[in-house]
Amino acid sequence: MKISKELQLPCGVIIKNRFLKSAMTEGIANEDAEANSRHVNLYDRWAKGGSGVLVTGNVQVDHRYIERAGNVLIEGEQSNSQRNALVEWSKAGTQNNTQLWMQISHAGRQTPYGINTESVAPSANRLQPLGGVLKFGNPRELTKSEILDIIDRFINAAVIAKETGFTGVQLHSAHGYLLSEFLSPNINQRSDEWGGSLQNRARLLLETISGIRSKVGNDFPISVKLNSSDFQKGGFSHEESLEVAKMLDQSNLDLLEISGGTYENFTALDIGSMNLKESRTIKPSRSTVVREAYFLKYASEIKEHISLPLAVTGGFRSTDGMNKALETNACDIIGLGRPLCSEPDLVNNLLSGHKSSAILYENILELGPWILGLNSPFKMIKSNNRVAQVYWCYRQILEIAAKKDVDPKISLISALINHFRDDAKLSKKYKKYWQDLN
Ligand SMILES: Cc1cc2nc3c(=O)[nH]c(=O)nc-3n(C[C@H](O)[C@H](O)[C@H](O)COP(=O)(O)O)c2cc1C
Repeated sequence: MKISKELQLPCGVIIKNRFLKSAMTEGIANEDAEANSRHVNLYDRWAKGGSGVLVTGNVQVDHRYIERAGNVLIEGEQSNSQRNALVEWSKAGTQNNTQLWMQISHAGRQTPYGINTESVAPSANRLQPLGGVLKFGNPRELTKSEILDIIDRFINAAVIAKETGFTGVQLHSAHGYLLSEFLSPNINQRSDEWGGSLQNRARLLLETISGIRSKVGNDFPISVKLNSSDFQKGGFSHEESLEVAKMLDQSNLDLLEISGGTYENFTALDIGSMNLKESRTIKPSRSTVVREAYFLKYASEIKEHISLPLAVTGGFRSTDGMNKALETNACDIIGLGRPLCSEPDLVNNLLSGHKSSAILYENILELGPWILGLNSPFKMIKSNNRVAQVYWCYRQILEIAAKKDVDPKISLISALINHFRDDAKLSKKYKKYWQDLN
């Protein structure tokens, strides 16, 4: 079976099989944004679950602009307690010959309003998120010196990741966070060297990679998560993604992970647009070879033009689909997200042949009998149902991090309510912590 074959990366590191646990924000740091024993428990479980690579949830580089309260933050010199916590986390996540890569990110204009009423972005364009349900800070344009500072922050986080035992890093340049905002002609309307041509829009990503490479050396894996497209009219298109992939191919990178969408069109989770302005969005077209993996068609087109190993994440559920994707050379690595929240041992079970598919929770879970989510003729309700399932995944992560078993009985409604309750409390504490510190 292709899925069980090793893969050697350009830097020389060998991945023991073709599975990558894709990044999933954990939300389990306390208000001080330090890692803790819950990260150890969670990654202990996942490392025992069989994936060749575990990518962490997005670790932030600026306490003012994070993705959510509960993110781990690496900013400046780290305290001894944070360094020790990172060491314990990496020990747990690298057991079993597993690669543990820290995903590093800056939330840009997708900083929640509850964290900061002002966000930063390449240009001061506001986003119109998820049917208006979530609220984000009002963006202001970054200055040139702030952009240079952000590169230093990414480099600093990567160096600390290496020093504390993480075996690689991934830059989050997908889903509408800062690095991908720079790539988008919709969002990035700068007229300086950081905007305009695609080469200029990709400058932040490319300079960040080369800055990190110069500090971590040639044998340390660096990966990028990139949108195959933002699926927005006038946004970062598939053609542009292909061009950026070619630039990345020349940039001393080890793995490119393909995903798609932003908070305005959440194709990353096969949710599509809940934005009222449907006319602005584009639907991804699926591969006819493996229909379950919804970015595979785009990825296989990219793969034809690059020699860099390619991972695809989004929708993979069956060994049949995964093996086919690998056999047809559409990708080299299979990324898995949601299934590993509900079945942390899934990869072992697929590799041993004990199972041939993940449980399709995203097709099973409903908001509640009174809403009749999946059968509803109303698109919003159907979509909300899938959105709610993200919060269900968050709750399963909390269970595993508390050393408990996954609890499939958690309802979507309770997951939603409990998430927003806890998130509001933690965001408040987080803000207070940083206000008191400054
Ligand atoms: C609970 C949850 C948290 C996520 N957090 C992140 C994240 O921090 N960084 C990231 O790049 N993608 C994140 N994603 C997207 C996943 O990495 C992945 O691209 C997506 O779930 C599609 O893969 P799947 O169909 O196997 O779930 C998250 C997804 C979920 C469900």
